Amino acid sequence: MPEPSPLLVVDDLKTYFFTRRGITKAVDGVSFTLHAGETLALVGESGSGKSVTCLSLVRLVPEPAGRIVGGRVLFEGDDLLRKTRAEMRRVRGKQIAMVLQDPMTSLNPSLTIGTQVSEVVRLHQRLRGASLRERVLQALRRLRIAAAETRLRDYPHQFSGGMRQRVSSAIALSCAPRLLIADEPTTSLDVTIQAQYLELLKEVQAAAGVAVILVTHDFGIVAANADRVAVMYAGKIVEMGSTLQVFDHPGHPYTRALLRCLTDAGLKRQQLVEISGQPPDLARLPPGCPFAPRCPERQAICEQVAPPTVTVENGHTASCWAASPVAT
Ligand SMILES: Nc1ncnc2c1ncn2[C@@H]1O[C@H](COP(=O)(O)OP(=O)(O)OP(=O)(O)O)[C@@H](O)[C@H]1O
Ligand SMILES: [Mg+2]
Repeated sequence: MPEPSPLLVVDDLKTYFFTRRGITKAVDGVSFTLHAGETLALVGESGSGKSVTCLSLVRLVPEPAGRIVGGRVLFEGDDLLRKTRAEMRRVRGKQIAMVLQDPMTSLNPSLTIGTQVSEVVRLHQRLRGASLRERVLQALRRLRIAAAETRLRDYPHQFSGGMRQRVSSAIALSCAPRLLIADEPTTSLDVTIQAQYLELLKEVQAAAGVAVILVTHDFGIVAANADRVAVMYAGKIVEMGSTLQVFDHPGHPYTRALLRCLTDAGLKRQQLVEISGQPPDLARLPPGCPFAPRCPERQAICEQVAPPTVTVENGHTASCWAASPVAT
């Protein structure tokens, strides 16, 4: 059977910031595909370009310093980079929803939760009166917001951080998007609530066939939630494959270092621990591999010539001079 065509094809995306210090190549040739219902995790150290990648997909890169300078973002076959601003506003929220790192910034503190969820539902479903109210309650209940009827009249500050996160997800999912972009949606939550929240997201996602791009620092979250993982370093995807492949045979020394940090720290706190050495200055990238200065497996060529992208196994690639296919 032929593979269904992907929901999203990102092809050689480049987003640069033009500042007094020079050109920061925040996203520098990122390519990946995503199918309906699939979850792709984006991982990597702070400053590796995860958020700018997400913002580029929905054309919300902070202007005028930031600019998408190249590539294509095909969503259901249409290039989002060629759409007008008005067309993009319709895509955002209706077909592609975002959950931001801090839910307080995406909720309006002066409006009740009921009003805010209703606005989105009314905009996208053109419902009114009782059917609108029913749809709003359904959206909140779907994310297990207890006593939804009474809580409709509450303001964001009357909810806990975890509740606010669920409310902003309810808003994101109530327009029945095809794609949800969740940029570190659980960083402000404690570990138990985190797990609950991600379980809920998974249920809702499976029921509606929503594709998810999940940005996280946490390999535990990757293991439990993602079908595939893309590891970012210095604005590039340096390794990508199914979650199992990347955990079992990491092909890039950077990924191995990240995974080593995970085991060193024990399974209790599955956060990325610092890897020795500094992340590179994206405005002054060295020739060759950007990870070379920190790489324990560095060879002479690594500092001079950009590494090839090696197919480690079917559907699994790593950009490293030392990467080789897994023996099977
Ligand atoms: N508004 C901006 N102006 C100038 N440069 C920016 C701006 N936003 C981001 N950058 C640059 O883009 C790079 C990538 O930033 P991005 O926010 O995508 O990192 P990230 O991987 O999401 O990190 P974190 O894990 O800390 O959220 C940063 O190193 C920074 O230099
Ligand atoms: Mg970020």
